[in-house]
Amino acid sequence: MKTSAITLAALPALAAAYPGIMGLHNRQAAEEMFQKMQARDAAPAAAPEANPQLLGGLVDTVSDVVEDTVTSLVNDVQGLLGTVAAVVDQDNLRPEPGFEFQEPGPGDSRGPCPGLNLLANYGYLPRDGHVNFGQVVDAAARGFNMGVDLSTLLSVFAVLTDGDITTQSWYLGGDPHADISPNREDYYLGCGDNHHLSSRMFEQNVKYAAADGSKEFTLDVMGSQYKANSEHSQAQNPYLWYFPFPSIVSLGAFAFYPNFFSNGTYGAGGVANYESISSIIGAQLNEETGHYEYVPERWPENWYRRSTPYGAVDALTDGFLTIYPRNPVPMPIAQLGTDNFNVQTVLCDVYSGINSIVPLALADDYESLTGEITWALGKLADVGITADLLGCPDNSQSDYVYPNSEQPGGPQNPPPVDEETWQGDNVYGKTYFCEKPNEPMCRHTC
Ligand SMILES: *[C@@H]1O[C@H](CO)[C@@H](O)[C@H](O)[C@H]1NC(C)=O
Repeated sequence: MKTSAITLAALPALAAAYPGIMGLHNRQAAEEMFQKMQARDAAPAAAPEANPQLLGGLVDTVSDVVEDTVTSLVNDVQGLLGTVAAVVDQDNLRPEPGFEFQEPGPGDSRGPCPGLNLLANYGYLPRDGHVNFGQVVDAAARGFNMGVDLSTLLSVFAVLTDGDITTQSWYLGGDPHADISPNREDYYLGCGDNHHLSSRMFEQNVKYAAADGSKEFTLDVMGSQYKANSEHSQAQNPYLWYFPFPSIVSLGAFAFYPNFFSNGTYGAGGVANYESISSIIGAQLNEETGHYEYVPERWPENWYRRSTPYGAVDALTDGFLTIYPRNPVPMPIAQLGTDNFNVQTVLCDVYSGINSIVPLALADDYESLTGEITWALGKLADVGITADLLGCPDNSQSDYVYPNSEQPGGPQNPPPVDEETWQGDNVYGKTYFCEKPNEPMCRHTC
């Protein structure tokens, strides 16, 4: 198995493949883009952030909030308890008979994605965590009602970046990741550990939920979480890995909290309550320390999955039009900052970005590279994602470009991560990252 450490270390070099567009890497361009999107989409909840002068004030508020005492965290959690879904459908009660929770044992592979870890903990996926494409598409639909186009997109990404193409399989512990995650530290700042739940991040997330009128982990609350995490990553992580394809995994993950982890259907009576979210992502409050231990992901008692599928267009819409504008990260999406920025053009960029991911991760030579791309495009076509249907330009598959592999962050010159400290599979029952890492934090249990 290819370790995630090696693969992920290689990927920041993608920047080199987009020299022109990476010139966007400045705040002004991002602000301009953001203002245009604000003007067009006029989302009232996020409106104050359109004024860059306000940004500083908001940031201060966040750090004050995060520094609150243990008592106030415990009080916040108590204030969050007790919200239940108005409408649920008995057919959607999970787990179904025959699927029992069982903690992962030694050698069972678990990774950064709480949803997939959970499905393996119930036997919806192989308990050893060695999963294949078809299993993931089926299990994600059955357990969470994930649309087949979305699970296909995510699985293509997993196989291309960290899997085995012949068997279309990968290990959950070698799962692909993107920086700026809801509750995992960046690969670089976590000193290679982007797998374990970060206590300080979830404490921050709870504060946002407690401060919100809903007392839930709504899309808006997750937008605040994204904003804080994104600001931190952009300020402290010189190897921030953010490109069209992986950004779907990052932005999607924030949208997945309410949309997949709610009790009942979010937006139709379902609630993204603390009971559901904390249990599903494996966050257990230690009332003595005020920090969160990372425990195996499990559904709370009496939990109902959403009753309608949530697919690729839903995820891209929530991710790119609601979460991302809260703190845009410059990345090679040609339409950023133009009136042409919408879900379709983003999907085209993702689509044409596929063969820029592949060579870094898998292909040894040009022939096998062509094979990987053909495979990936075929999988996407099976679920209706094609250049034609998307209305992408004809030549939307960009050429194989991969220069400057030796520049800092490139595959020949990876970030200074100590691979001894982090090997792959999750270790539960501990607390990780009580403090914000401002540089790689290698001793991170607390
Ligand atoms: C989910 O909602 C149902 C229906 O309101 C409720 O009976 C159940 O206790 C809720 N479960 C959780 C974990 O919130």
